Amino acid sequence: MLKEKNAAGLRGDYSKAGPDYAVEQDWAGYTAQEHALYRRLFERQSRLVPRYACPEWIAAISHLDAAREIPSFESISKKLKKATGWEIVAVPGLIPDDAFFTHLASRRFPVTVWLRKPEEFDYIVEPDVFHDFFGHVPLLFDRVYADHLYEYGKGGLKAMRLDAVKFLARLYWFTIEFGLMKTPAGIRAYGAGLMSSGGELAYSVEDPRPRRLPFELEGIMRTEYLIDRYQDSYFVIDSFEHLMRETAPDFTPIYARLKEK
Ligand code: PHE
Ligand code: CO
Repeated sequence: MLKEKNAAGLRGDYSKAGPDYAVEQDWAGYTAQEHALYRRLFERQSRLVPRYACPEWIAAISHLDAAREIPSFESISKKLKKATGWEIVAVPGLIPDDAFFTHLASRRFPVTVWLRKPEEFDYIVEPDVFHDFFGHVPLLFDRVYADHLYEYGKGGLKAMRLDAVKFLARLYWFTIEFGLMKTPAGIRAYGAGLMSSGGELAYSVEDPRPRRLPFELEGIMRTEYLIDRYQDSYFVIDSFEHLMRETAPDFTPIYARLKEK
């Protein structure tokens, strides 16, 4: 597998990607070492899950049977399709906004095919198959979350037309990637960047340093984020229904206000 950086500064091999950036997963091409590394990552995160993950995430992981080796996207897609109408599409890595939003708006979740190197066990800059799969795919089995992400995809295409992707991307960052949820047992994580992180998962839930603010749409859209260290602020939803409700209004006037500042 190509692991050198390409012209865009990304690691994936984009040479075989179609216009929608889809590629073959080439499951048979993974090495035994890669499957073993994936298994070690899965085991480490699984030990943290009972304490730090939201109940929906914990319920969903049981559908997956993905602990032993890098899963075949095709077999997971079959189950997912039955559960919520979603499927996984293999991609070489990060893809352009329009391709990304179009996939989400078609209930297809793009998952990177390559796995990090052993020396990146604790930290990786670009999303790999472990982050994309372990972090994002389980919650696609939750009906409300799955419907919300579909609406987000459509909202993304609209934000492109309104030149407001920057604001909508902050919403994604502070919910889908780094979101926390209030549960009867206390604050728990649902964001994929937290679920796939060895250190930030516990930090986000119980370290005294970061702020844990109630979800507030415009506040989130005004908050810049850093991609290379733990967050200073997390936003807490009450439930996925709450997230769905708060993001249902037309964002057009909100984008207009945000651009005035
Ligand atoms: N309501 C948003 C809009 O009008 C679309 C959206 C829904 C965005 C859900 C994110 C999540 O643009
Ligand atoms: Co992600």
